[in-house]
Amino acid sequence: MRPQITVLDAGGQYCHLIARKVRDLGVYAEVAPSETPAAELAGRKGIIISGGPSSVYDPGSPTIDPRLLHSGVPVLGICYGQQLMAHILGGRVEKGERGEYGFAQLDLRGADSLFHGDTLFKGIEGRQQVWMSHRDAVQDPPPGFEVLGSTETCRVAAMASPERGLYAVQFHPEVAHTPCGTQILKNFVFEACGCVKDWDPAGQVQAIEDQIRAVAQDRNIFFFVSGGVDSTVAYTLCLRALGPERVHGTYVDTGLMREGETEFVRANFSALGARAFAVEDAAKQFLSSLATAVNPEVKRHIIGEEFVRVQQRILESEHFLDGRWILGQGTIYPDTIESGGTAKADLIKTHHNRVAGIQKLIDEGRIIEPLASFYKDEVRAIGRQLGLAPELLDRHPFPGPGLAIRCLCSETGGAPEKLPEGWLLPVRSVGVQGDSRTYRAVLAIDRFPDSQEEASSLINKMDRINRVVAEVWTSGKLGNMQAVPGFLTAERLTRLRLADAIVRRLTLASGFDQAVWQFPVVLMPLGTPERPDSVVLRPIDSVDGMTASVVTMPRELLTDIVRELSAVPGVAGVFYDLTNKPPATIEWE
Ligand code: XMP
Repeated sequence: MRPQITVLDAGGQYCHLIARKVRDLGVYAEVAPSETPAAELAGRKGIIISGGPSSVYDPGSPTIDPRLLHSGVPVLGICYGQQLMAHILGGRVEKGERGEYGFAQLDLRGADSLFHGDTLFKGIEGRQQVWMSHRDAVQDPPPGFEVLGSTETCRVAAMASPERGLYAVQFHPEVAHTPCGTQILKNFVFEACGCVKDWDPAGQVQAIEDQIRAVAQDRNIFFFVSGGVDSTVAYTLCLRALGPERVHGTYVDTGLMREGETEFVRANFSALGARAFAVEDAAKQFLSSLATAVNPEVKRHIIGEEFVRVQQRILESEHFLDGRWILGQGTIYPDTIESGGTAKADLIKTHHNRVAGIQKLIDEGRIIEPLASFYKDEVRAIGRQLGLAPELLDRHPFPGPGLAIRCLCSETGGAPEKLPEGWLLPVRSVGVQGDSRTYRAVLAIDRFPDSQEEASSLINKMDRINRVVAEVWTSGKLGNMQAVPGFLTAERLTRLRLADAIVRRLTLASGFDQAVWQFPVVLMPLGTPERPDSVVLRPIDSVDGMTASVVTMPRELLTDIVRELSAVPGVAGVFYDLTNKPPATIEWE
């Protein structure tokens, strides 16, 4: 399907969000590299240039084919996109010292009789709250442009040259923090570009099934299913297209999954009418390879290698490599596009693709990805259309390596160290600052801080830590606890599985699961000889996992959770993670 709108990716994590928002308006949009030649974009009704972390003055910073700004096709520049448009067309961009991050009030120049910019701001009146995140800013718009709106610190918050169809905003209309943003995108897409509604993912089911039949021809399809939304929806579409005899699914039980997961997956596939569904029990193999692993990178590496071994074994023993079979995968749209925001997904995917047998299939083009042009929410809409259960479609994301990256290990042990700010715990977790990962100690404080920023400012102040937790309950004094060496043993995994199941049950029952995007429950080796571990609660909100903010839970729920967790054998304490991402990652690893 040819997109009406292309979003040029200038390196921001926002570009997919923009494309998703346009699709939500019912208009098919795709993402493309910023430097895509104008000729390849012929036939588009509009172009959007995304934000990005660069400055137009940085050597090698993203740019666009300047012909796009003279073609008559409407262009909307957002954030960096506005600066780039100004820079190319002879305006003046000034390098910012401090930058501006967060909410701002936008004043529109609506009262001016010369005001022509009302296409972009049609239906929007008065002061508007907008979300800003930028360093550089346009000081003088290019010749022929008028300033449409300003904020206190940003004179050119919106500008346009409507005769040429050129529009730009410094703020982010694609985020929820800009309430008028959807109307701005709507105005650009329908009023400025004249797009027509052509996109309804749930209405694509028939077309996807036709395509599956066309690609498969007389061959059968097999899947490694994870039990997650994407692979299950992809599998279901293939099942409907080819019938249950021709679609095979294997679920690898690594022994690292949550309580009841294998039964849940089995029940789902049986309800779908899958006949050729198998569970490969590889728990012993995974656990024995992980027996002495402590470092997060080492754990991940071992898990990746084991996956490769198990999958290769299955491919060979089931004859999936012969010409009668092709591989089905639940790849979704952001995973197919190379961009900053999807670097991790790419990494994860290459990992699985490294299985020699799978690489061979890809090289031979024997692969089918029915969801490759859909976003996650669209996959959910398709799933609903197919009648899949809400418990399946609305699940929180869960990482492939499972509980292994929530079961913190330590080979040294040690005692908490008293500092003026709190207790420095003798365990290390992963964080992310700038583009680099950190592996540092955790600070425990004895209260919930008044502001979300407090954890970040403690971390800015202390080089040794990348994470701050609040002490919620301990069986004895925190200062008397010890970190004992802890590994990925069956005993610790069982403890974590139990704690996770308790938190999950209470969270679901209270409705709190609706308030969070993900809720990792982490086990850390800190306690007493009888109770060697503590549990950390990490409820967060996020859009795509790239950034995350801490969510505070209702007091009563926390009380209930602590009551049950304190009765779990071997648990000495309950802590609450207070750290946003960045500077801490979502998972502790
Ligand atoms: P971090 O810990 O990097 O996690 O802040 C960001 C998001 O990615 C998920 N995650 C993974 N998902 N395979 C996955 O499918 C993985 O290896 C993996 N590692 C992290 C994590 O749960 C969070 O949602």
